[in-house]
Amino acid sequence: MSSKICLTGIKPTGMPHLGNYMGAIKPAIDTANKGEFKGYYFIADYHSLITIHDGNQLRSDIREVAAAWLASGLDPKKVVLYKQSDIPEILELNWILNCFTAKGLMNRAHAYKASVQSNTEAGRDEDQGVNLGLFTYPILMAADILHINSDIVPVGEDQLQHIEIARDIASSFNHSYKKDFFNLPKAIIADGENKLLPGLDGRKMSKSYNNHIPLLLPEKKLQKTINKIVTDSTGPEEAKDPNDSLIFDMYKFFSSKEEQNELAKRFRDGIGWGHAKAELFNVVNREVAPIRAEYEKLLADPGYIDSVLKDGADSVREISSRKLLEIKKIIGVSS
Ligand code: ADP
Ligand code: TRP
Repeated sequence: MSSKICLTGIKPTGMPHLGNYMGAIKPAIDTANKGEFKGYYFIADYHSLITIHDGNQLRSDIREVAAAWLASGLDPKKVVLYKQSDIPEILELNWILNCFTAKGLMNRAHAYKASVQSNTEAGRDEDQGVNLGLFTYPILMAADILHINSDIVPVGEDQLQHIEIARDIASSFNHSYKKDFFNLPKAIIADGENKLLPGLDGRKMSKSYNNHIPLLLPEKKLQKTINKIVTDSTGPEEAKDPNDSLIFDMYKFFSSKEEQNELAKRFRDGIGWGHAKAELFNVVNREVAPIRAEYEKLLADPGYIDSVLKDGADSVREISSRKLLEIKKIIGVSS
């Protein structure tokens, strides 16, 4: 097993959707299973606290997201799965890193800038609804990454700026003490032509567009949701262009090249939209059916999920407490 560390954080915001699964969960599990890196995957519950101020909701979101990752094939014997809030060392490092972060760097962070912009456009005070958790979000994320000196961080493209910020903060610390203490973490972005799974309206599938298909819908509901995809009025016998079809675009994510060639031919020969949707449902369901069965078993046993997270936290703290002690010595608060 390699000693290089692959780390990623998962924000608990309810059940993941098919886009999260194809773009984040599956590639991260594949990376961990290859064994080139030691995987540390965690639930970023303190990041969710920025927006979720309902204890019961956060509790159930945490379990749902942990169950979804375990059901998707995360093997807790290979990957350390833990909860951010169980690692107090991250919060201590968070403060330390605050003192190495220029405020201007936070002013330029996309998520904060977007809130300011939408306030300004609506004629509101620019900081309305912005808590300091949102403003300093990237520093906590840097602490997540640096507390065990991660080497690679698989994330979606939208998170690239945060990894850059983590590198800036690490460099600022290293520069102050003239030491290469922190690794500069490298972002790994899922590649391939099909990076972003489209949602029901053709835009990127996203919870914020409400065009998403939850990963673990019961079979009947999944079928119904897929049937909702809007199609044009081309008749069933008429030839259709597979390269101009949302159904085909989605199909590509869940099928082999041979299956795609076969369906493309049926499109060109003329296929009814109902049949095309049924083909899409078949391949999506083939992918998610085993995950769904496992997910239901896991959610029925929250004690098991909690014990996986606790074991994960115990094993991470062994590393992060040692790291924190080294940091405290470097900065001079510990002798
Ligand atoms: P959402 O847009 O639904 O709020 P998040 O921003 O929480 O999703 O995304 C969590 C992870 O899933 C990120 O790594 C992101 O890049 C990935 N992801 C989200 N939507 C998609 C999509 N439609 N296709 C591929 N990956 C996605
Ligand atoms: N910000 C990430 C997201 O919204 C979640 C996250 C928190 C994260 N800490 C991290 C991802 C550290 C990678 C590394 O998806």
